[in-house]
Amino acid sequence: MILSIESSCDDSAIAVTEIATNRLVFHKKISQEIEHSVYGGVVPELAARLHAEALPKILEQCEPYFKELKAVAVTASPGLAVTLIEGVTLAKAVSIALDIPLIAVNHLIGHIYSLFIEKETLFPLTVLLVSGGHTQVMEVKSLSEITTVAKSMDDSFGESFDKVAKMMRLGYPGGPAIEKLAKEGDRKRYNFTVPLLRTPQLAFSYSGLKNAVRLAVEKSEPQDYKDIAASFEHIASKHLIHKLKKYFQTNPPKNFAIVGGASANLYLRGEIQELLKPYGAKLLLSELQYCSDNAAMIGRVAVDMYKKNMFTSMEEVQVAPRVK
Ligand code: KG4
Ligand code: ZN
Repeated sequence: MILSIESSCDDSAIAVTEIATNRLVFHKKISQEIEHSVYGGVVPELAARLHAEALPKILEQCEPYFKELKAVAVTASPGLAVTLIEGVTLAKAVSIALDIPLIAVNHLIGHIYSLFIEKETLFPLTVLLVSGGHTQVMEVKSLSEITTVAKSMDDSFGESFDKVAKMMRLGYPGGPAIEKLAKEGDRKRYNFTVPLLRTPQLAFSYSGLKNAVRLAVEKSEPQDYKDIAASFEHIASKHLIHKLKKYFQTNPPKNFAIVGGASANLYLRGEIQELLKPYGAKLLLSELQYCSDNAAMIGRVAVDMYKKNMFTSMEEVQVAPRVK
């Protein structure tokens, strides 16, 4: 079995995965959403302190599996440096105490593998990752052959939901709150401009849309918020659809997946489903509980890394806020 630890942002999570079967034997996550909600976003130092409290508590519950552990995996990048270090320090301690090797996992690959929890992998795959930290399209041929073909130049898709929610005082995380409010609203009432509509560039941008929404919020009354939320969600998704359509002209998808916290958004899922219809492409989605950050996805990557002997020495494991 492999023990896996995730602490890249505001979720403290630990999982135990069986190597031979991919079976998820144990998974527990303690989310810090309530603690950060009053600030309208994640406060890194507060998050680090909460991880330091939560992770050892979850680890205690894994004691029955200690004897069967063959490796300990941990998210090492990308994420918040001060929170990553909490997970990495704990993983190093476990590695020394149980004399088992370390596996340093990339969080984004973790999100891709959220599709394969308790399952076999399916490649090649075109993946849209939409989370709080990233918006990118990747071509995935295998665990170690991943090419990023488009990414955001500024804010991410999920982050823009968080910021719009903050403007409307809806708390953190903003995604679920905006999605709920948008369901009652008129998607056509506010005519926000689709970002990068006339540029050929395969890239995403959400800061302009965010500012357009800010102006609309400032000029409106709270009863208009549902229409602003609906129009914003519509244009934010349309931007992704528009760029994907462009990409598909030369790279038609066979297997397509949406992963990351914001892949839980049902409006986006519906729009992507429509987009894929003419291609007859298969749409892969993670279970809703594994869209947001979790340790089960880190454990699933670690199983494949373990089989390929992809271990990292104690000195080599370094937290990295960004990946090159
Ligand atoms: O993957 P994740 O848990 O953490 C990162 O790796 O960033 O993603 C969290 C992000 C937040 O920005 C949150 O607002 C967004 O995912 N999110 C959503 C929805 N649920 C979560 N965005 C839009 N619609 C949702 N239903
Ligand atoms: Zn994430």
